[in-house]
Amino acid sequence: MSNNPAPNHRVSKNHAHVWAWLLFCATLTLLVVGGIVTTTDSGMAFRDWMTSDGTFFLTYDWLSSEGDKFIEHGHRLLGALAGFLAIGLFVVCYLTEDRPWVTKFSLVILAGVILQGILGGARVVFDERLLALIHGCTGPLFFALTAAMVVVTSTWWRQNKPASLAADDAMPRRTFQLALICTGLTYAQLVVGAIVRHSPDLTSQLAATVFRVAVYFHVLLAFVLLGHVLLLGMRCLRTGLQRWGGVGLLGLVLVQLALGMSTWVVKYGMPMWATRFVGEWTLVNRKADVISSAIITGHMVGGSLILVISLMIALRLGRQLRVLLPRVTASETRIAEAAQ
Ligand code: HEM
Ligand code: HEM
Repeated sequence: MSNNPAPNHRVSKNHAHVWAWLLFCATLTLLVVGGIVTTTDSGMAFRDWMTSDGTFFLTYDWLSSEGDKFIEHGHRLLGALAGFLAIGLFVVCYLTEDRPWVTKFSLVILAGVILQGILGGARVVFDERLLALIHGCTGPLFFALTAAMVVVTSTWWRQNKPASLAADDAMPRRTFQLALICTGLTYAQLVVGAIVRHSPDLTSQLAATVFRVAVYFHVLLAFVLLGHVLLLGMRCLRTGLQRWGGVGLLGLVLVQLALGMSTWVVKYGMPMWATRFVGEWTLVNRKADVISSAIITGHMVGGSLILVISLMIALRLGRQLRVLLPRVTASETRIAEAAQ
């Protein structure tokens, strides 16, 4: 198997891939800090935007601020950093990419970061918790776009040759479909999780009912997702495709379940049925604790990581099986063939 790069692409100078990774890492940090903003209830530290306490946010003296202002403004600055990186990614794609659809995709990412920023700002300006909920659901979507960009700009994607499979073997294709289902289920779980997180602060009369229904649904979906990820892991091992991704995803979902249960305990206390076995614990509403905040925020970010890893597995499987983007793969197959 030849490892030579495609003739019209210098792998050593894969700038778009480097920028995609930078944006991916900045967005992950942004999700962590965004999660901390919500966990510590710092969302309304400022009542204005794009200014912070009347000063344009890029010139605001952030290092002299404290507490909720320090956290919330840090999130704003990271949002700006993601914006600059997205502009850089677009420029680099425009100048170096030989696949027009990748350049268009970088433009979609740029539009995504702008919309996400506007949504965050609108949450502050209108002091609207529902917008915080929506902003919490679109953040992971944006993160998923950056993850997809990392995959499609990689050398692996460009040089990948179709997996050699028996024509009648339906298992790899079903594994790809399963990875897509896991991605969809995880996103549904993130949305329900965001409802569990934000509904206690909604002013609607239905908030209590919405919260109760969302909690049951969140737990149910957690086990449905676990079942699917278990099956995906087994299929990845059996087909030999994306083995590490499948096993890693399963490990992450198990950690996420543990974090979810811990989140419940630190926020709402031991469920009644559990106190019979382990006694009463007095951990309720200690969300100001660093460890409690880390557990809650870790659970939120864990959900986004599961989303992007299942998406990355699906994309890579789709690439290996040539079931994604047929128009593009046709031209890229020629590039891969030329590389042989
Ligand atoms: C690409 C840019 C951004 C991303 C990916 C992002 C992501 C997030 C995430 C994931 C959360 C946590 C939501 C939750 O826990 O449910 C959050 C919270 C928040 N974000 Fe952003 N954010 C971005 C930009 C901004 C900007 C520019 C602002 C401007 C003010 C902003 C304001 C907020 C606020 C106020 C909260 C707390 C909402 C609350 O719970 O009260 N965000 N963000
Ligand atoms: C693999 C399964 C799970 C995934 C992917 C997941 C994902 C998430 C996410 C992403 C959020 C935050 C959403 C946001 O703020 O935007 C969340 C919230 C939450 N999850 Fe899960 N979760 C899972 C399982 C569980 C389990 C088993 C429990 C146990 C009861 C649980 C309890 C909670 C609670 C209590 C919240 C609200 C946290 C808060 O109020 O700050 N989760 N979940």
